[in-house]
Order: sequence, then structure tokens, then C-alpha cells
Amino acid sequence: MYGSDGAGDNAERTAFRKAEKKYKLYYEEHSKSSKKKKQPQQVDLSEVLDPKSISESYNQKGELPPGIVAVNCGFNRPVFRLEDRPGFYFIPGALTVEEQCQWIRASLRKFPQPPNRTNHNAIYGPIRNLFVAAQEGKVLVEEEGSDNCSDSESSASVSNGDAHRWKFYEEDIARSRAKSCKSVSASVLLRKLRWSTLGLQFDWSKRNYDVSLPCNKIPDALCQLAKRMAEPAMPIGEEFRPEAAIVNYFGLGDTLGGHLDDMEADWSKPIVSMSLGCKAIFLLGGKSRQDEPLAMFLRSGDVVLMAGEARECFHGVPRVFTDEENAEVTPLESQFLHIDDHCYLEYIRTSRININIRQVF
Ligand code: OGA
Ligand code: MN
Repeated sequence: MYGSDGAGDNAERTAFRKAEKKYKLYYEEHSKSSKKKKQPQQVDLSEVLDPKSISESYNQKGELPPGIVAVNCGFNRPVFRLEDRPGFYFIPGALTVEEQCQWIRASLRKFPQPPNRTNHNAIYGPIRNLFVAAQEGKVLVEEEGSDNCSDSESSASVSNGDAHRWKFYEEDIARSRAKSCKSVSASVLLRKLRWSTLGLQFDWSKRNYDVSLPCNKIPDALCQLAKRMAEPAMPIGEEFRPEAAIVNYFGLGDTLGGHLDDMEADWSKPIVSMSLGCKAIFLLGGKSRQDEPLAMFLRSGDVVLMAGEARECFHGVPRVFTDEENAEVTPLESQFLHIDDHCYLEYIRTSRININIRQVF
């Protein structure tokens, strides 16, 4: 599923792959004489569905484009579905700007904390307080193991969970140790954070949930939010039970290849997927990669639900707009004005976060 963007002989030929290539970030070939910054290639966005304009024209004139239906569900905002994609719902601007900021903060400070795992676990073991360490300019340094690294001076180190091999140090101490030990700055690690898993831990190598791994429950506030958001897609009389969540972090040029999320037992329950930060293009394909996917924008605060038949549909994110003009993060900028929030603003200006919440059993 993740990262599997259709590798194989036919990969280039499927309709899904073609759409991914159409929207992906490529740079213009620049002539040798030109000293200009490399420019992103222009992309034709005329066929990308725009939930924001759909919602605005529905609110102002009661009008909807063909194939789009407003769902009657007593939700406090309009919820839409696609006539020919049963089980797929989108809620433009579902989260207030305050809620968006709350979940951006949590995604950076809390969610990557052990026992939740991240993509960094495989190399560094559990890392505690990565976001704070990045703010403080700390450096993660490999401890012991090698004779060169047996210096016992560790007063400036930050506890690094169970992985005693790597510890955070102040930059100047790290510099002196870095001559003999491997090191990497916390800010580089933060930029390279690609995912964290909450609740039941997803094991990417086995492509399944590993119930033997230690985990915390999904935080209560996130549970409540997911339950509220899931409602339009839930079977009547049933309540959504959030058991796992995957948080995806996207920076410049990052994509999420076409995949299915099929490791949960009951596909009648939706995946609740929240977008935060920079605007992205989401591709919703069919049950085969050969099916022509639909492209739509997802902005900060938008929520998408995938239930029923939509659970069997390939989907992915071929493009995130991290440039100022297209990112559409101005509302977040005015919310993150306080000096203490500057670190979040700096991150989210050029990043997208997606939190998708699942009922596993
Ligand atoms: C996923 C997923 C979509 C997104 O994590 O399974 O499909 O909008 N994410 O990032
Ligand atoms: Mn998915």
C-alpha cells in the first residue's frame, strides 16, 4: 500500500499512474547559462475538482455541479458525496482554524512521541521530544557501541526512551563528539518525519496491525472529533470506534503513491481523513489502477470519508503545494501569530499533515 506506487512492468501504463505523473511536481530543465532558481513546471489544474468552490456555490445559490450530491445528515456544514463513487464523502472546511491549529500542534509535539512509532524508529529507535529538540537546535548523536564514542559527558543529553544508542546534545557538545560519532540535527529529522502511528500500531513491513506492540489509546479529543466526522458515512444506528490513526507528514516534493487501505476488518466503517496545512491534490481512483481517477483539491480543514465501496478504491496524493501562492495557509498564519507558535507556523507554511483515523476490528 504505502510507497507502492504501482511498481512493475505495467506501472507506467495505468490510468492512475498517468494521473500521478500529470500532477506530480517536476522542475523545468534550466539552461546552463541561467542562474535563476529552478522553476516548477506548470500543471493544468482545470480538471481538478474544487470542494471549496462547490461548497461556496452551494451555500450561495444552492447550485451543485453534475455528479455531486449534498448529503442530508444534520451535520453543521454541508457534506457532499459523488454520485458514481458510493461511500466517498467530502466535508470542505470541516475543521475551524482553531481546531486545525490544535491538531497541527498535536501532530508535531505529541503524536510522534513513544510508544507511538515513526519512520525514524527503524534507524534511531524511539525518539523523545523531537519537535522541542529541533526548536532548541539540538543534535542527535550515536552513543557508545564504538570506542570512539565512549565519552561519558552526557549532562546535556535528553533522555531518548529505550534507544540508549542515540541521544540529543546541545549543538556545541555534539560538534565535538560528532568527529568520532554519527550525528544528525533534530531539525533535519523533523523535516524527514514522514509518518507516525497512534493507537494500534501499523507495521509497514507486515502491512498489518501489530497488536503485540505497546500503544496508547487514541487521544480522547481526537476520538470525539473522528466520531463526529464519521457520522455521515456510518451505517444507521452504529457508532464509529477509532482504534488506530496514521499521521502523514508531507514536505516539498513528497507524495503518497496510489494504494488501498484494506487491513481493517469492517469496510462498512469509514476512514476519517483530515487535511492540515498546505493544499494538496488527492486522487480517487476505482477498484483497478486502470480506472481513470478523479482529482480533487484538499485544503487545511477539509475532511474526507471513505467507506463501503470507496474502501476498495485506489487513492493517493501526487502533489502538495508548498509555495506561498498555492499553499493557502493564510488563515493559519493569522492564528499562529504568537511568538511561541512561530515554530509551528514555520513548519506548516511548507508542509501538509494528514491524520487518518480507522476502526480496525
Ligand atoms: C492514507 C491516505 C490521504 C491523504 O494515509 O492512507 O490515503 O490525504 N492519506 O494524505
Ligand atoms: Mn489511504
